[in-house]
This record gives sequence, structure tokens and C-alpha cells, in this order.
Amino acid sequence: MTAALPPMPRHLPPDRLASLLRSAPKSELHIHIEGSLEPELIFRLAQRNGVALAYPSVEALRAAYAFADLQSFLDIYYAGASVLIEEQDFFDMAWAYFERAAADQVVHAELFFDPQTHTARGIDIGVVIGGLHRACEQARSALGIDASLILCFLRHLSEDEALATLQAALPYRTMFIGVGLDSSERGHPPQKFARVFAEAGALGLHRVAHAGEEGPPAYIEGALDVLQVERIDHGVRCVENPALVARLAASRMPLTVCPLSNVKLRVFATLAEHNLPALLAAGLCATVNSDDPAYFGGYLNDNLVASFAALPQLGVAEAYRLLRNGFEASFAPDADKAGWIARLDAAFAAAA
Ligand code: HPA
Ligand code: ZN
Repeated sequence: MTAALPPMPRHLPPDRLASLLRSAPKSELHIHIEGSLEPELIFRLAQRNGVALAYPSVEALRAAYAFADLQSFLDIYYAGASVLIEEQDFFDMAWAYFERAAADQVVHAELFFDPQTHTARGIDIGVVIGGLHRACEQARSALGIDASLILCFLRHLSEDEALATLQAALPYRTMFIGVGLDSSERGHPPQKFARVFAEAGALGLHRVAHAGEEGPPAYIEGALDVLQVERIDHGVRCVENPALVARLAASRMPLTVCPLSNVKLRVFATLAEHNLPALLAAGLCATVNSDDPAYFGGYLNDNLVASFAALPQLGVAEAYRLLRNGFEASFAPDADKAGWIARLDAAFAAAA
């Protein structure tokens, strides 16, 4: 069930709705922090660390950001991450994200990170987690952003490698709140990671997984049934299975939807064809997120404003619902959620 709407205008002209979207407090639940690495910072870190890049300039690198599918993106995304060597690099990357997030009025963020992308290059996992954690602490003290980390396993690698990664992260257990599953989806079903997710659950970690981005609805069912996830990342292909949609709606299972990502990776041909309105109309707990904002053309406000501009079915009520879902679907304590939702309600009431 969803709660009754608080006082808010029934309609707003598009420009006023866009400005309400921009100024309202919001939560980001699907951001790969390595996907926030802007070309300028990639070049700065490459120079600082003496890393050679395959592109001669920032412009040449950015021009390469034309993707045919998830894998063609991942190839360039992993190459970009190769400039991250020192703890300070991981801090700088996350801090740059938090400054942009603050400008977008993000008050709560749960950041994915991919330790295996770095440990495979000989970087100590403590360097990765330490730098990211320090940025999260500073985000709280300097920007008022409540931030936490979710450790993702790369699904194109083996489950044994995921188990070894979880083991290596245990000395830093207090610095992350959960585990996720990302990278190449097709051919790597959730079942492959049953043991490592069971172990994470026994450790009291939250569990999420990418499913139903490029992969079939059966991968969403596998994530629910085998991995016991509390959120589905993307999940847009659920609509191909009406029984699954009914199950997701009845359980209020959150979907962390990333509209600009879906267009860049050709899950949908255009934003106007995105199924976000259909997901909301089906009663699903959909949220809007940025995924890999440096690669996909925008941060959280860009995703929201572009989606509402392209999809006339989305109005004030849908804006409120999406932003509220973002708080409800977070792993923050209930008291924090209630405080943010009160601020959200006030922002919508003031727009009348
Ligand atoms: N899908 C899967 N893996 C990823 C993504 C994504 O959109 N971004 C970064 N890793
Ligand atoms: Zn993602």
C-alpha cells in the first residue's frame, strides 16, 4: 500500500515542475562511484600517477562515450578506473561526486563500488574502502549528505573470487552496509552467487543486485529467490512478466531505475519510450538514479528533469512518488527517512 499524498499542487507548468524536481531533497540509491569519474579527473589522476591512457585528450575520451550495449560501456568504464591508485584518488573521486550531489539536493546516497576492478590491478582493498569511507565522512560533516557504501561483486568473475573479495573486505566491515552485483549481466545469472550472498546475509549486510537491465525477468526472480535481495537495480524488464510485476508491487520491492543509462546503453531507444510511467502505474516502488553519471550524460537532477520532459505521463504526483520512494527504499533508519520525507512534503506543499 502507498500512503495518501500530502498537500501539493495538482498540476504545475513544466518549468515549475522542473524547478521543484531540482530543488526537492532526494536520495540516490544506484550510483557506481567509478562511473562518476569525469574525463577531466581521469586525466588529472593519470598525470598524477603516471598512468598512460589510450586517448590523447579529454575531448577524445569523451567522444568515445558512444555505447552499443552494456559490455561496450563496461570496457571503457574499467579502463577509466585504471587511474585510481592511491587512497587519495578514491577520496577525490567520491568527493567530486558528493559536491555534484549536494548541488542536486541529494541528502542521502548509497554508493556502489567495485573493489575487484582495483584489487585485480594490485591495489589493496583497504586503500579503496579507506578513501571512499573518508569521503563519506566528509560528505556528512561538510555537506550534510548521509552517505554509505555498498560493495559490488563483478558477475563476470567467479563466485570464488567474490567470496575472496568479501573475506578481504571483512576488516573494513563497519565501513560498508551491503553487497551488490554488477557488470555483464547476460550469461551470469544470480544463482552463480548464491553462496556469497548467503554469507553476506549471515554477516548482517544488506543485499541488492542488478537484474532485468539487459537480462531476462528470470534474473529478477533469481535475485529475489536465491540472493534474497532487498532491492532490484534496474529491473525494467520485469514488465515482460505480469506475474512478476504483481509480485514486485505486492512486496513493494524497490527498483532503482536509471533512465539516462537505459537510453545510452540502448535498453530503450529513446527516453520517450522508457517504461518509468508504466512501472509507477503498475504500483511498483520505482526510484530514479544516475548509475554512471560521468558516462551517461547526467547526474540525478539531469535524470529527473530529462525524464519528466520526455514523458508527459509524469506529473507532480509522480514526481513526489518517485522522490518519496527513493527515501523509503533506502537502508537508512526509519527516523531518518521520516525526517527527509517531512522535508520532501514541505517542498511540494510550498510549490502550490
Ligand atoms: N550495469 C551493470 N554493471 C554496471 C553498470 C550497469 O549499468 N554500471 C557499472 N557497472
Ligand atoms: Zn548500475
